[in-house]
Amino acid sequence: MIKIEKNSKMVGFSAATIIARQLIKKPNSVIAIPTGTTPIPMYEAIVKLVEHRIIFTQKARFFNLDEYVGLTRENPMSYAYYMKKHLLSKIEKVQHDIPSTDTRNPEEEANNYEKRIEKVGGFDLCLLGIGVDGHIGFNEPGTPFSSITHVAHLHPSTIKRNSKEFGKTVPDIAITVGIKTIMKSRSIVLMATGTEKSKILKDAFWGEVTPDVPASVLQLHPNLTVLVDEKCATEITSSANDFHWMNL
Ligand code: GLP
Repeated sequence: MIKIEKNSKMVGFSAATIIARQLIKKPNSVIAIPTGTTPIPMYEAIVKLVEHRIIFTQKARFFNLDEYVGLTRENPMSYAYYMKKHLLSKIEKVQHDIPSTDTRNPEEEANNYEKRIEKVGGFDLCLLGIGVDGHIGFNEPGTPFSSITHVAHLHPSTIKRNSKEFGKTVPDIAITVGIKTIMKSRSIVLMATGTEKSKILKDAFWGEVTPDVPASVLQLHPNLTVLVDEKCATEITSSANDFHWMNL
């Protein structure tokens, strides 16, 4: 199902309530979590829910979806640093895993990460953002739907977009949880906010299921929630008669 919220803050709150329900039902849930600008309001809402003792995260097991290769954990551009900043430093100690950032053998680390996910029985819940090119995690256009955790070569459009934040030395390789691993999650929530994502939202969920638009595979998932804000929903609501919207 797709839920249109007023703004990005409400999308974050809505995602946090889904996490809260999952943790209340199963405190030791295995949850995959994303990075980027989109999920920041979700992390803010989770921190509040923890502070107010509405949810308890000590038993939860969080796995990040991806990480750049070649950065240290202390590098402010690493996703390890992002997680510390937005969540881990603000709540009680939690079980958290993320691919190693400064590994000399990224392929081996990718295989090990997949094994660590398998060992805990896969994801109960997987939270996702989406790239403007349709990537989920760092599964860029063309990634086979059968992929498990692997070393990904970033798409030129992603590198170009990242260069605004990184400056000259933009990483071009990352370790990402694969599409098959994501699709095995018991439930999936994708968040998309802002006008910048309105076209890809339409392509991904009302277009053909194709590796050219990695997020389109999610149309085949039996338990998918798409959370968008009004700005992002403009393309789908303006052509609502042409689409089966609210009925993915
Ligand atoms: C990066 C991350 C993705 C994320 C995407 C969108 O590429 N690897 O997991 O979904 O960015 O980021 P933003 O929310 O900043 O648009």
